Amino acid sequence: MTQDDAKRLVARRSVEFVEDGMIVGLGTGTTATLFIRELAARNLKIRCVASSEASHTLAVSLGMNVATLAELPELDIYIDGADEIARIPGAGLGLIKGGGGALLREKIVVSAAKRFIVVADSTKLVEHLGKFPLPVEVIKMALPVVEPKLAALGLNPKLRLAKSGDGAFITDEGNYIVDCSCGRIDDPQRTAAEIRAIIGVVEHGLFLGMAKLALVAGEDGVSEYLP
Ligand code: 5RP
Repeated sequence: MTQDDAKRLVARRSVEFVEDGMIVGLGTGTTATLFIRELAARNLKIRCVASSEASHTLAVSLGMNVATLAELPELDIYIDGADEIARIPGAGLGLIKGGGGALLREKIVVSAAKRFIVVADSTKLVEHLGKFPLPVEVIKMALPVVEPKLAALGLNPKLRLAKSGDGAFITDEGNYIVDCSCGRIDDPQRTAAEIRAIIGVVEHGLFLGMAKLALVAGEDGVSEYLP
């Protein structure tokens, strides 16, 4: 099974958690895109809030009813992918998110949802977080102040560049992303708190204890992981 097959499989399973009448949060990324397409194909009577301009545009193009958090500030469910998933002692499921650069809006939409289900192929399941560079969203003018502080924490920060090759990557909220190649994160709660304490950091890609279920697809089908 290819990674894309696994993403398709888990996307198909995840839509089973969505019912008529629900307000649904739409994630961002390749797995979330497959989920959005599957969801649109089911023609359920649902309303949605997207976690990025890209997912918003996709959902609208598929004829889905998409609103903003101003209109729908409480969601029943949020479904999204992740870059890494691990069980964190004392903190439930821990994720690294933000590979697609949408971590801030994703975390905001998660915080508005009663339930967050993370969906992924089995390559995302890890023993310890940190092999995937941890994205940190930073206010533009604060970059010269924030970057050395992230470096002093041993996080090896590197400003993310736009795929077009045209300067820095800019998030939907107009900020920079700094990717931190920190290696194994032994104490994710501590790392999260240290990053959060830096003035100019808007948010980081550690999602600790937020997902209540992980659906992970591999050769044996879709497995469920609880905190
Ligand atoms: C975007 C994200 C994505 O959920 C994460 O990067 C996983 O993406 P993909 O499903 O494409 O592997 O956090 O900000």
